[in-house]
Amino acid sequence: MPAIKKVSDSSVTMRQLVMPNDTNPHNTIFGGTVMSWIDMAAAMVAERHSNKNVVTVHVDDITFLSPIRVGDHVCVKAQVNYVGKTSILIGVKVIAENPQSGDSRHTTSAYLTFVALNDVGRPTEVPGLEVITEEEKRRFSEGALRVEQQKEKAVKKAKAKS
Ligand SMILES: CC(C)(COP(=O)(O)OP(=O)(O)OC[C@H]1O[C@@H](n2cnc3c(N)ncnc32)[C@H](O)[C@@H]1OP(=O)(O)O)[C@@H](O)C(=O)NCCC(=O)NCCS
Repeated sequence: MPAIKKVSDSSVTMRQLVMPNDTNPHNTIFGGTVMSWIDMAAAMVAERHSNKNVVTVHVDDITFLSPIRVGDHVCVKAQVNYVGKTSILIGVKVIAENPQSGDSRHTTSAYLTFVALNDVGRPTEVPGLEVITEEEKRRFSEGALRVEQQKEKAVKKAKAKS
């Protein structure tokens, strides 16, 4: 396994055509369907980066910015933003396209943390991340901050429980 990998080594773009089965009673997409596509694309990125089995350990707030309709093409773009010792923070952007008009719009963003597991199901080290572009560097620093904030939240929750 390489000690360090580039963001582009594991990025994933997944496309889906929205079918009637994917929608709610208002004919817009069911949020759970979008969430499962986000989780799937992000999991593939985490697996490609670590070359291990991975599990989702945390999903940040998800906001749906605009509705997605039957017949839209949905593009789920996922890439590694930040890596810890055994965890990988993935950023996902969901874009919906109307194939008739060619218009596209950003509908959702999400951040998911995965942990790579060894053969006995325990967290195992992942390769480092080489950030090259300005965008990748910005996402890396924001990711570090996000992970720090998540850790603080977890400590507060644990204190509140005890
Ligand atoms: C993921 C799991 C193996 C981690 O076990 P653990 O004993 O907490 O492991 P550790 O404390 O060593 O933490 C491992 C990494 O996860 C990170 N982590 C743990 N809990 C986290 C949380 N709530 N949010 C973000 N990161 C978290 C730690 O910061 C650490 O990252 P690092 O090594 O990069 O610093 C365990 O929590 C688990 O099995 N969870 C269930 C996963 C699952 O079933 N997901 C749904 C289906 S895929």
